[in-house]
Amino acid sequence: MAFELLLLAFAALGQAVQPSAPHPIPAPLRELPWGQLQFLHTTDTHGWLGGHLQEPSFSSDWGDYVSFAKHMRDRADADGTDLLLVDTGDRIEGNGLYDGSKPKGKYIFDIFKGQDIDLLCSGNHELYKVNSSDNEFYETVPNFRGKYLASNLDIYNPKNGKLEPLAQRFKKFTTKNQKIRILSFGFLFDFTGNANNTVVHTVASTIKEDWFKEAIRDRDVDLILVFGHVAIRSPEYDLLFKTIRSEQWDTPIAFLGGHTHIRDYKKYDSKSAAMESGRYMETIGFMSVSGLSTSQESVVDAQNAAKGITFGRRYIDNNLFSLYNHSSTNSSTFPTELGLNVSSMISSARKELKLDHTLGCAPHDFYVNRAPFPAPDSIFSWLQQRVLPDYISASTRVANESKKAIVITNTGGIRFDIFKGPFTRDTEFLVSPFTSGLRYIADVKYESAKRVLELLNNNGPVLEEVARQHGLASWALAPPEQVSDRPEVIAEKDSFSDNLRIPHASDQIPLHPNRNKDNPALIPGYTTHDDLGTDGDDTVHSEISFYRVPNCIQADIGFSEQQETPQTVDLVYNAFIEPWVILALKFLGEGYGKGDTGDYMRESLTEVISAWVGENWGCGEEG
Ligand SMILES: *[C@@H]1O[C@H](CO)[C@@H](O)[C@H](O)[C@H]1NC(C)=O
Ligand SMILES: *[C@@H]1O[C@H](CO)[C@@H](O)[C@H](O)[C@H]1NC(C)=O
Ligand SMILES: *[C@@H]1O[C@H](CO)[C@@H](O)[C@H](O)[C@H]1NC(C)=O
Ligand SMILES: *[C@@H]1O[C@H](CO)[C@@H](O)[C@H](O)[C@H]1NC(C)=O
Ligand SMILES: *[C@@H]1O[C@H](CO)[C@@H](O)[C@H](O)[C@H]1NC(C)=O
Ligand SMILES: *[C@@H]1O[C@H](CO)[C@@H](O)[C@H](O)[C@H]1NC(C)=O
Repeated sequence: MAFELLLLAFAALGQAVQPSAPHPIPAPLRELPWGQLQFLHTTDTHGWLGGHLQEPSFSSDWGDYVSFAKHMRDRADADGTDLLLVDTGDRIEGNGLYDGSKPKGKYIFDIFKGQDIDLLCSGNHELYKVNSSDNEFYETVPNFRGKYLASNLDIYNPKNGKLEPLAQRFKKFTTKNQKIRILSFGFLFDFTGNANNTVVHTVASTIKEDWFKEAIRDRDVDLILVFGHVAIRSPEYDLLFKTIRSEQWDTPIAFLGGHTHIRDYKKYDSKSAAMESGRYMETIGFMSVSGLSTSQESVVDAQNAAKGITFGRRYIDNNLFSLYNHSSTNSSTFPTELGLNVSSMISSARKELKLDHTLGCAPHDFYVNRAPFPAPDSIFSWLQQRVLPDYISASTRVANESKKAIVITNTGGIRFDIFKGPFTRDTEFLVSPFTSGLRYIADVKYESAKRVLELLNNNGPVLEEVARQHGLASWALAPPEQVSDRPEVIAEKDSFSDNLRIPHASDQIPLHPNRNKDNPALIPGYTTHDDLGTDGDDTVHSEISFYRVPNCIQADIGFSEQQETPQTVDLVYNAFIEPWVILALKFLGEGYGKGDTGDYMRESLTEVISAWVGENWGCGEEG
């Protein structure tokens, strides 16, 4: 009896991080620039609440974040400052913990709600499917009642069919310790790809609504906080900044953003700044603001206000080495009971979903953006030269009917690198989370079919026309990390064929435990350049190169060098890019429509990849 109790107590004690998480590697750290008010910011977590189990730099899980936040709140309470937690959406899709269950998301909402988040909003991923936005309505909004904001988002209430705001439009509140009066809004960018049970109002129309105009006229405000699933360098945030500034010439404004998966910080004016905090639970964003007036009148406030507004920022690598350091704890003082409970909820969900089940073992790393295309370690070269040819050449059309095929797939459909070692059921969801299958148009003139790729890869009329007709932005084709409105990147957008090193976007690269040869003291990783300089990352890293890849890649199947050029080929593509393919063909004088398309094979690209891994990548010693 006593022994059982002891065992129970021991089990309940649990452990931080997931059981198979790698140990973080010690590295030089920069301190958090603690201020009067601080934000901890997560965005675009895409279900990675278990952390990264093959990357030591990001190996902490959501439970560890729960423990960390508790220590940070305690610190704020101890020194009379304030701390707010914000999440800016895209919490779902992209990790087995979400995608692997039936129905999807069965486990994630309870795990997520273990964190005491002060403010949150929806991303675009929450809205692609009726089921997922209904999940926001039934789960996340009630779990965070009064904290979830929806400044420009409505939903058809699934209970009565009435169109209503998904959550309250804005919120005004006073912070716990400093009594700072904050007016906050929670936005989504001008997204158009949502299912028809939600309505996204553009930012331009929202700022004309009476509730908004009235809200920003409030003078009894010390800080305006605009958080959202919006890139911090975007027309939407520019417009919000200008609109608020036109009404409040002097009030400090803090922006927190997301969507483009990068670490970034932007200065709007001397009293306004914005932060974006990466992706996939790699980064916990830390932003501080000091010099704010408060509702409490005191000598200290007057002194603060006289000093002017200062902002600070840090991109925290989400691993225990960093989290212990910033919270002045160690392995015994760090974990809280609730944090351990959340970690163990994650590990039991992972176990039930069999996410550690191994399909094969990768012989080396394959990269999305850390290798140029083509290259031996490019994930796209691997798809183009191995996976697609092996699979498509066994299709009925090719194998039995001697048809040739051109297969086009967008690079944005592949979301993550493959690391040397076990390729698990989890890896499958990380690499290729989308479930769409391969479709085709039969017997397209070869001369036309072979030109489709170039039309999808240059920023020409086809992309513009699809954007106009279908509201589908071309950013959806390539990896989201490549989207940026930074001028230097726009200047390079016309040359997708070159593998350009992007000067300022070297910031979104997954780490890997190899030591850099030139500077053995540093681990390669994020080396962010932002409006405050190059000291934003909490961990001092050596730099990793980042390469722009084309929107789409192409594999030719069934061609052999001896044969003359064919008259016709099957044009095969992943279902997601169908509108672009049809318009490209139209542009080339080929009048195909939706009715001319069909399913090429039943399997999705994800299933194709997994089957290939199972057949080709053994885990024996030879691997
Ligand atoms: C959508 O939600 C319903 C109700 O929870 C569920 O039965 C169904 O399986 C879900 N569909 C998908 C594709 O997950
Ligand atoms: C959304 O589309 C479905 C299927 O096309 C239709 O049945 C439904 O009425 C639409 N809902 C709304 C709110 O327009
Ligand atoms: C955190 O790391 C910094 C620099 O690496 C070090 O100077 C400091 O003492 C550490 N703090 C704690 C509490 O471990
Ligand atoms: C952690 O810190 C506490 C208090 O500072 C100390 O008593 C304990 O020995 C430390 N534990 C470890 C594992 O370093
Ligand atoms: C953690 O889980 C245990 C066992 O389920 C439960 O008794 C306890 O109340 C939980 N603690 C917290 C802080 O949620
Ligand atoms: C294609 O060929 C394979 C073997 O040659 C055969 O098993 C299969 O039934 C054929 N499929 C069709 C649709 O003709």
